[in-house]
Amino acid sequence: MVARSARSLTLPLHTERLLIRELEPKDEDAYAALYANRRVNRFLPFGARDEAGARRQLAAILAGRARSRRDAWELGVELQVSAGLMGACDLTWHSSREAEIGYLLDPAYWGTGLGHELVRGLLNAAFGELGVARVLAHVEVSNRRSIALLERTGLAWEATLRRFAQVDSRWWDVHLYSITREQWSGQG
Ligand SMILES: CC(C)(COP(=O)(O)OP(=O)(O)OC[C@H]1O[C@@H](n2cnc3c(N)ncnc32)[C@H](O)[C@@H]1OP(=O)(O)O)[C@@H](O)C(=O)NCCC(=O)NCCS
Repeated sequence: MVARSARSLTLPLHTERLLIRELEPKDEDAYAALYANRRVNRFLPFGARDEAGARRQLAAILAGRARSRRDAWELGVELQVSAGLMGACDLTWHSSREAEIGYLLDPAYWGTGLGHELVRGLLNAAFGELGVARVLAHVEVSNRRSIALLERTGLAWEATLRRFAQVDSRWWDVHLYSITREQWSGQG
């Protein structure tokens, strides 16, 4: 069993077009709209599925941030050119061996390569400041857009985890995707 300890992550993260930053109380309406959007929540086993649930989820994230030990970051995403939340993501440090990522964008921004940019930003932080040896992502087996995004970013299928989670009586099957530090460095 690997001991867990608090990590530090310098925020915000910047990509060419995105700012990946701490969530704030002012994000509440945009955050609620994101999670309540059926196109967004359809393939997410965990997390809010309606506006009220999303507001509670954000409140819990903001309250939890006060903890002194931190090894998971639930973050907001916005375009550098305009203020306003248009996505969310998370980066969780499991151990020096491994971190996990998750991400979502407002469908108005799909098809523009911003998902690719967001995942690259998270991988840079995980292999850079967090210094892990590999990064993984779980993706629902029929989430075609996210699977394409992961593969385009260099993650490779590693396993299919059947009955990964049961939420509201529905079982979720997911693929486990991963990328190692060497594979990431090799992409130059
Ligand atoms: C997962 C998600 C972020 C992927 O978004 P996406 O827009 O498909 O992904 P990308 O931003 O990488 O965009 C890829 C598309 O943009 C196009 N594109 C345009 N400009 C581009 C650029 N500069 N770079 C890369 N791709 C570009 C690609 O050709 C591709 O087009 P296609 O969709 O016709 O194949 C989005 O579907 C989402 O938020 N889903 C809901 C939440 C979710 O399921 N999250 C994942 C949980 S595992």
